[in-house]
Amino acid sequence: MATLVRDTLENYSAASNLMHNEKIREMMGSGQTIYHFGFGQSPFPIMDKAADKLKKHASEAAYLPVAGIEELRAAIRDFHKKYDAISFSSDDVIVGPGSKELIFLLMNIFQGDILVISPSWTSYKPQVMLSGHKANIVPTTMEDEWKIKPEKFTQYLKENNLSGTKLLIMNNPDNPTGTLYTQQELSDLSDVFKRHNVIVLSDEIYGRLTFDDSFVSMAKVYPEGTILCSGMSKWASMGGWRLGYHVYPPQLSSLKNAVKSAASHTYTTVAAPIQYAVAEVLRDLDTCDAYMRHTTRIMAAVGQYCHKELAEVGVHSIRPKGGFYIFPNLEILKPKLKARGIERCEDMVNALFEETSVSVMAGGPAFLRPETELTVRLCYVNFDGAKALAESERIGLGACLPDNFVQTQCSHLHEGIQALKQWIKKILES
Ligand SMILES: Cc1ncc(COP(=O)(O)O)c(C=O)c1O
Repeated sequence: MATLVRDTLENYSAASNLMHNEKIREMMGSGQTIYHFGFGQSPFPIMDKAADKLKKHASEAAYLPVAGIEELRAAIRDFHKKYDAISFSSDDVIVGPGSKELIFLLMNIFQGDILVISPSWTSYKPQVMLSGHKANIVPTTMEDEWKIKPEKFTQYLKENNLSGTKLLIMNNPDNPTGTLYTQQELSDLSDVFKRHNVIVLSDEIYGRLTFDDSFVSMAKVYPEGTILCSGMSKWASMGGWRLGYHVYPPQLSSLKNAVKSAASHTYTTVAAPIQYAVAEVLRDLDTCDAYMRHTTRIMAAVGQYCHKELAEVGVHSIRPKGGFYIFPNLEILKPKLKARGIERCEDMVNALFEETSVSVMAGGPAFLRPETELTVRLCYVNFDGAKALAESERIGLGACLPDNFVQTQCSHLHEGIQALKQWIKKILES
């Protein structure tokens, strides 16, 4: 029978992280102890009273405006004014069922070249393919902290003859590498973007999970050319509520209108109770603020712990600055693994899992890396977030978390990292 799927989707498969997560959940359900570092979901419970707000609005059952209700868009505007010192109108905002859907619609309506950075989050390239575009992959190196650099980026555009209008997908702080662009770096890049007609989709979904106060929105540095993309899934731990948004500058209102039209023909509007509840959650900025301070200091402690522990066995990674991820490079194991017949990163992570029950995602093609490069994505969220958050709240924001916080409050993660270290040592000594 002739193939029924578009041939441009030949190598396309379901989101590898979600599939991986389903498989591991099944195993955990059958009682096996697994150190699950493969899936980037917030470990924390949602903010106090958020569920009550949702219950209160459960009977809201009408279709709502496509772009979202005014109260919600205004709350999003005020939230970014407070945290990012940027100003925009509530009319510039489109709310969608997760930021992922809005990125996909944007790619669908965009005319021009789409650029995705290597490494990057697993869904960008499949979305480019689904939208019928070709993905142009912009390389980076670990020496450059996996960041794009102005001169190299300019050279890349030249070599690939990318002279028209382009849409660059940037993630800051980054999944999978945990890196963060400084204000100076963003500013230097924005000069290049202006010169070369680059519109940036700045995916800042981890922006409010930056470990210090250094996060700067691309929309502040390059307002006329940035589409700000964020949502409630990560910092507010509401992935399953499915609420994300885009903010378009007036200069890009044609893109906003086309995305809005595509939204009207596809998902129509975000679920009404969710919109009303999130508008109330975002209006309670004091609660949001305290929640963020606690959760980010816990994530900072855990991220730094992972970085330090891996460095102790000679594994290099960029010290994470925000989000849920670190991207260690296990190339030091290459000769020993080769002697065992293991050359592909996928085979290495399978061996690791079989021998230690530690699950990480192979870098490789899912993250736009070569199959044999031994980089892996480790999501450091496999701990009891409710317990860690309660302890941080008990300690209070006036005092620091103790040095042994991860060992005592995130013990499952601690055990998993120790198991990973032992395995690395064993391979190196073999
Ligand atoms: C970089 C990045 N962008 C977007 C998303 C999707 O977020 P949402 O739940 O808003 O669709 C994720 C979720 O894993 C992500 O890691």
